[in-house]
Amino acid sequence: MSTLIDNIGQLVSFDPSEPARPTRTDAALVIADGRVAWVGDSHSAPAADTRLDAEGGAVIPGFVDSHSHLVFAADRADEFEARMAGVPYSAGGIRTTVAATRAASDEQLRSQLHRLVAQSLAQGTTTLEIKSGYGLTVDDEVRALRLARDVTTETTFLGAHVVPAEFAHDRHAYVDLVCGDMLAACAEHARFIDVFIDGGAFTVDEARRILLAGRDAALEMRVHAGQLEADGGVSLAVELNAASVDHCTYLTDDDVELLAASARHDVGTVATLLPLVEFSTKQPYPDARRLLDAGVAVALASDCNPGSNYSSSMPLALALGVREMGMSPLEALAAATRGGARALRRDDVGHLGVGARGDVVILDAPDYRYLAYRPGVPLVSRVLVAGEHVALRSR
Ligand code: NIG
Ligand code: FE
Repeated sequence: MSTLIDNIGQLVSFDPSEPARPTRTDAALVIADGRVAWVGDSHSAPAADTRLDAEGGAVIPGFVDSHSHLVFAADRADEFEARMAGVPYSAGGIRTTVAATRAASDEQLRSQLHRLVAQSLAQGTTTLEIKSGYGLTVDDEVRALRLARDVTTETTFLGAHVVPAEFAHDRHAYVDLVCGDMLAACAEHARFIDVFIDGGAFTVDEARRILLAGRDAALEMRVHAGQLEADGGVSLAVELNAASVDHCTYLTDDDVELLAASARHDVGTVATLLPLVEFSTKQPYPDARRLLDAGVAVALASDCNPGSNYSSSMPLALALGVREMGMSPLEALAAATRGGARALRRDDVGHLGVGARGDVVILDAPDYRYLAYRPGVPLVSRVLVAGEHVALRSR
């Protein structure tokens, strides 16, 4: 089964074999058996079983959202409103969602998760990482990961999101549980392990123990660090060669040097920036320019969750990267696609070179720069996952 997408006004493929050619005009693309099989000029396109007319729109790889927390119940709109009136964000709000999530039925969690995933897809996200972290008991964390596994291969065990209320007076016992029975039960349902390093969550030493336990259980590592202060989490992530260190809002010069050195390795640690969090918490935006100029591998992701940011919009994250963080439109698009793929240690998504999965977004715009130029406008008009045209629905 093959599909020819032609009449592409502008193609951004991020083809690793053509790094010097970021865009192509009057292009066409053939997807066969779910993978990109041919890329070139419209006039020389081969025949295929079906044809999809891009109507002169720009075509980009599907977004790779490498950071989300979508298995939860209830919202925290009150907390958001208070924040807009000046109350600072703190990790403590996570416990509110933990209580609501534990009380919810499997069906409630599943239907909410599926709605949120459909919304991401409708905004062009074709690869989505989803974390646990609002259960914080063995059974509730396993439940979250099983639900997430039904919708993505990119699942992350985040038992170390915060110390739950019942362990408030014995955090060591909670870290023991995470590294012991909880990890043992969750490992088979997860690809990654993650820890939230923060004054209100876990210390660098606790994180090291938890991440190493996860590594021993054959999980790859990711870290939340530097959200509210420079906390030492970046150097831990680089030391352990975690796939990604996420937030990076507050960084020291040493952190930047370590990340840049790591990026010189084939498989290093990516700095994943989450500007929708800064939008929703009124924190300063991370300095993407500083990182890019130093040679750091940068990704943009949504961090959609009910607390620090409830937007799943990769186009808006990209627009903030351009408007607030010193990224060029092309750098921001690269960070939201192949950067996210690198943060997930995937080389088959995030680009449209021959052999990549046929994850394609067709824009209702002639130029990819419209994603930043026309923020908030629904420019994603068609989405294909592995070459299959996805019927978009928002609920
Ligand atoms: O990535 N920082 C830790 N976890 C989420 C926030 C979760 C919440 O507030 O519920 C984040 O921002
Ligand atoms: Fe997060």
